[in-house]
Amino acid sequence: MEELYEQGRVKAIGLSNFLPHHIRPLLEVARIRPMVDQLELHVGYMQEYTLSYLRKEGILPQAWSPLGRAKLINDGTVSNIAAKYGCTNAALLLRYLNQRGIPVITKASSKERMKENLDIFGFRIAEDDMSYLSSLPERGWSGEHPDEV
Ligand SMILES: NC(=O)c1ccc[n+]([C@@H]2O[C@H](COP(=O)([O-])OP(=O)(O)OC[C@H]3O[C@@H](n4cnc5c(N)ncnc54)[C@H](OP(=O)(O)O)[C@@H]3O)[C@@H](O)[C@H]2O)c1
Repeated sequence: MEELYEQGRVKAIGLSNFLPHHIRPLLEVARIRPMVDQLELHVGYMQEYTLSYLRKEGILPQAWSPLGRAKLINDGTVSNIAAKYGCTNAALLLRYLNQRGIPVITKASSKERMKENLDIFGFRIAEDDMSYLSSLPERGWSGEHPDEV
C-alpha cells in the first residue's frame, strides 16, 4: 500500500476494523501513516475510546453500518428525538455522525431511500440531543468484534 501510494496509484491508505491495539504496532513500522479507519460506528455503538485514539493519531474514522444495519430504523428512543426535528430515524442517525465529523457509508436499495439518506443538511441537532444520543446504552451492534471475526 505504501508503494502504491508513493506511485500515486492510490489516494489514501485505509484500514478496516483496526482497533488501537492493532494500530499501535502498525504505526511502529509504517513509513506512511494510514489516513482512514473504517469501523462500525452508529448511535448505540460509538466506540469512544477508539475514536479518541484515532483523533490523537490523526486518522479519520469512517462509519460502516451507520444505521446499525437498519436495527435503529424503528428504535423508539431514536424516533422520539427524530420527531423533534421532523425527520426520519435514518436522517437523524446520519446527521448525528455528520455533526461529529465522521463520514458514513450507508447502504440503501431504493432511490427514495438514497435521497432520504442524502437529505440531512436542512437541520442541525442541538448539543443536548447530541449528548443524549452519544450516551445511549448499547444498541444495534452487529455483534462482530474485529478480534473474533
Ligand atoms: N468494513 C467492514 O467491515 C464493513 C462491515 C459491514 C458493512 N460494511 C459496509 O458498510 C456499508 C453499509 O453497511 P450496512 O449495509 O451493514 O448498514 P447500514 O447502512 O447501517 O444499513 C443498511 C440497511 O438499512 C436499510 N436502509 C437504508 N436506508 C434506509 C432508510 N432511509 N430507511 C429505512 N431503511 C433504510 C437498508 O435497506 P434496503 O437495502 O432494503 O434499502 C439496509 O437494510 C456497506 O457498503 C457495507 O459494505 C463494511
